[in-house]
Amino acid sequence: SRTAVGIIGGGPAGLLLARLLHRAGIGCVVLESRDRGYVEARQRAGILEQGTVDVLRACGAGERLDREGMVHDGIELRYDRRAHRLDFPALTGGRRVTVYAQTEIVKDLIELQLAGGAPLLFGARALAVTGADTARPAIRYRHDGREHTLGCDYVVGCDGFHGVAREAIPDAARRTYERGYPYSWLGVLADAPPSSDELIYAHSDRGFALFSMRTPTVSRLYLQVPNGTDPAHWPDDRIWNELEARAAVDDTSWKPARGPLTAKAVLPMRSSVTEPMRWGRVLLAGDAAHIVPPTGAKGLNLAVADVTVLARALTQVYGTGATDLLDAYSDTCLRRVWRAEHFSYFMTTTLHTPPDQSPFDTRLQLSQLDRIAGSRHAAAELAENYTGLPLP
Ligand code: FAD
Ligand code: DHB
Repeated sequence: SRTAVGIIGGGPAGLLLARLLHRAGIGCVVLESRDRGYVEARQRAGILEQGTVDVLRACGAGERLDREGMVHDGIELRYDRRAHRLDFPALTGGRRVTVYAQTEIVKDLIELQLAGGAPLLFGARALAVTGADTARPAIRYRHDGREHTLGCDYVVGCDGFHGVAREAIPDAARRTYERGYPYSWLGVLADAPPSSDELIYAHSDRGFALFSMRTPTVSRLYLQVPNGTDPAHWPDDRIWNELEARAAVDDTSWKPARGPLTAKAVLPMRSSVTEPMRWGRVLLAGDAAHIVPPTGAKGLNLAVADVTVLARALTQVYGTGATDLLDAYSDTCLRRVWRAEHFSYFMTTTLHTPPDQSPFDTRLQLSQLDRIAGSRHAAAELAENYTGLPLP
């Protein structure tokens, strides 16, 4: 079989790209290796930049987001047993973020897709991409126990960090830049109302803690833990005690509301960028091309930015035949990707305490946090990056 654009991966990147192409009248097929239930339940990101919300709205996926998403005007930083709020609209000329879980975006996009968009096949695992540097690239995939081939004009790898599309770029032409971190996150969901109206990012001598939320009755919480931690060693009480201790401040008796924990998982952290994001007729988008540690809340937003740029380029190709936007795709995305890589690295290394951290390095972190609290310029730099730099 044949299609114009073959999309590998039905995560946020693949599903949104399919939606954007469908609206531009460009044919596509999405191949997703997992089943629908699995994809819709996978707990991941929760913070949407202003630009991400705008894109979802413009493609018709904003109805429930506008009803249920929670608009946030700032975050709180806690360090040295003090709290400091950053007011995003005041620091950025009006930009905000929205709390709306990745699971919900994925559900909304799948529903739109199945209701009249392009074909979306679950249980379809791409095995390899062939002919990347020819006019006839193809995806070999398994579905219903048989092997198939999908011929395409273009193949887009939206297949995440463990995907196969990246391998279509020959080794000699592909370079991956990476960095690991000596800690992970223990992430939990709690049937407990958020303990604060806004997110709290806490630096402490016990390690990092993050208080986020999913709905007015469900909290999403994260603790820095050593790499290789087994969640079984973290009973509920230990998690709540640690969250409370890490976020404690001197001049209040603030305590998070507790409730049953409904999910627990340990998430390793890494930074990684693969260049280029295009080889011949194969293009990479989202986690297939780059990974950030989660502290800056950038992963999902970067995926949305990539496919927005790509949809514009493919719309030009199919509309006028011109390829200048497509030719610039990799460079256009990578410039913004590297800024988000730096911001994510900065947030991560400023707020976490590595196992062997020297007192000198702790002093540097506290000095940097103090600078953010005391300088409008330093605060604005954080706020602009957090709420999202303009799409290219
Ligand atoms: P993915 O969401 O990974 O989607 C890729 C899709 O491709 C998947 O559905 C996968 O099943 C499918 N696929 C893979 N291989 C194949 C194949 N061979 N054939 C067919 N389909 C295939 N970001 C934050 O901002 N905050 C967070 O708290 C946060 N937590 C995270 C926790 C985890 C465990 C992970 C892995 C990521 C987290 N992220 C977080 C990052 C964010 O979720 C990702 O950046 C985002 O999901 C990227 O979307 P994507 O569509 O590019 O990739
Ligand atoms: C969430 C995740 C993040 O990585 C972050 O920085 C803020 C919030 C979340 O899952 O809600």
